[in-house]
Amino acid sequence: MRLSVIGCGYVGLVTGACFAAAGHEVTCTDIDAERIRRLQAGEVPIYEQHLEEILSSARKDGRISYSADAGEAIRAGDAIFICVGTPPKESGEADLSAIDQVARQIAEQARSPKLVIEKSTVPARTGLELRRALAAYSSGGKSAFRVASNPEFLREGTAVGDFFHPDRIVVGVEEESAAADLREIYRPILEHKFHCPVHQGSCPTSQPAFLVTTINSAELIKHASNSFLALKISYANVISDLCERIGADVKEVTHAMGLDPRIGGQFLSAGLGFGGFCFPKDVQAFIHLAASVGVDFDLLKATERVNKQRIDRFLEKVHKALWVVKGKHVAVLGLAFKANTDDIRFAPALEVVKRLLEEGAMVHATDPEAISRTKALLPKVTYHEDPYEALRGADAALICTEWDVFRHLDWKRAKPLMARSLVVDGRNLYSPKHMRELGFEYHSFGRA
Ligand code: UGA
Repeated sequence: MRLSVIGCGYVGLVTGACFAAAGHEVTCTDIDAERIRRLQAGEVPIYEQHLEEILSSARKDGRISYSADAGEAIRAGDAIFICVGTPPKESGEADLSAIDQVARQIAEQARSPKLVIEKSTVPARTGLELRRALAAYSSGGKSAFRVASNPEFLREGTAVGDFFHPDRIVVGVEEESAAADLREIYRPILEHKFHCPVHQGSCPTSQPAFLVTTINSAELIKHASNSFLALKISYANVISDLCERIGADVKEVTHAMGLDPRIGGQFLSAGLGFGGFCFPKDVQAFIHLAASVGVDFDLLKATERVNKQRIDRFLEKVHKALWVVKGKHVAVLGLAFKANTDDIRFAPALEVVKRLLEEGAMVHATDPEAISRTKALLPKVTYHEDPYEALRGADAALICTEWDVFRHLDWKRAKPLMARSLVVDGRNLYSPKHMRELGFEYHSFGRA
């Protein structure tokens, strides 16, 4: 099928690339003409595992193209995926102005009927507003567009694998024909007819559920899922605080909890808390949506509060260990909001670094992918590609992101480089016993 993708951020690029790899003809556009120029030149503006290889093979096969002209991109597809940003306003409410702008462009530029699919994360009822906007902006007020919601559940870092092997594909529609079109668009995924760059022939074979719902339900499913995962993390973090007071081990507790299939073991890792451009903003937007219809979502307010306190809890540990922070050389290992991404939006590490700088620490930071993005924001930090160089002369090592390179760091090698053998671990990467055997003063979350 011929598909258009509006918005070439994480969601749009992965969606466009994977649909092209699955055999569709895809045209992508973005308001940022420089981004389109780079994509046309074969550059990939974000780091996401396997994205570069699928984009380059789709490009060679002529299945993906880019245009800075939104009208051209809109006219190229029979179905249009809206993948533009919905950032939080000051109040926490999602800013939907980019969606409104795209609706206007589609209504004005399309020359034939289209299926318009919202993939951006939006509050419930946005689809209905989108339908109204498309009609209002169409000449004569009569819309030639069908609207659908198809929320994405991709995680940054594993987005390509998640796209090809989803647990569920949710399509919120108003008419049967829209569901049929979306089933056709997803047919290669449902029938496993694609070349998967991630698993190279040993792909999971389970069949994803294809769920057809109303548009309101589809939109709610997305927010309800992300908020529930965020709630799970905050729950684990409170359990971790309890473990510290009581003298229990949070890893033992959450592991045993997770063996109950009703609970599940994922998203129970205690530490610095959740960041990124999804959970913090989606939790806020969901609280706001609930309030707008008279539902007080106290549970989520607590989730948010617990998460914000994680940074304080971490810095309390740093203070306790270092006593005076001013003038100390602190090595920060990890800047990205989680491993396998260069994304630093709402990254807990950045808040930690800012607070340390404010207190007068000399911060030396390292990250496998996020240094160049961080440099512009935090120019007072000294950056090192090599983690051992960041640790040279350090009074303390602070672990802020759970990258595998940090998990497998050779602390025997690092110890003589450091001025003081102190590690404060915000991601519980190491065994406290092992670190102490190596001669480190080691602090982590929820473990003695
Ligand atoms: C999240 C969801 O997992 C995706 O399903 C969803 O599609 C996406 O948001 C989105 O809405 O676009 P993502 O933000 O990429 O994906 O990251 P996650 O892997 O979910 O991690 C979020 C944060 O939680 C990270 O900061 C991570 O370090 C933290 N986390 C995760 C914990 O602190 N503890 C855990 O046990 C798990």
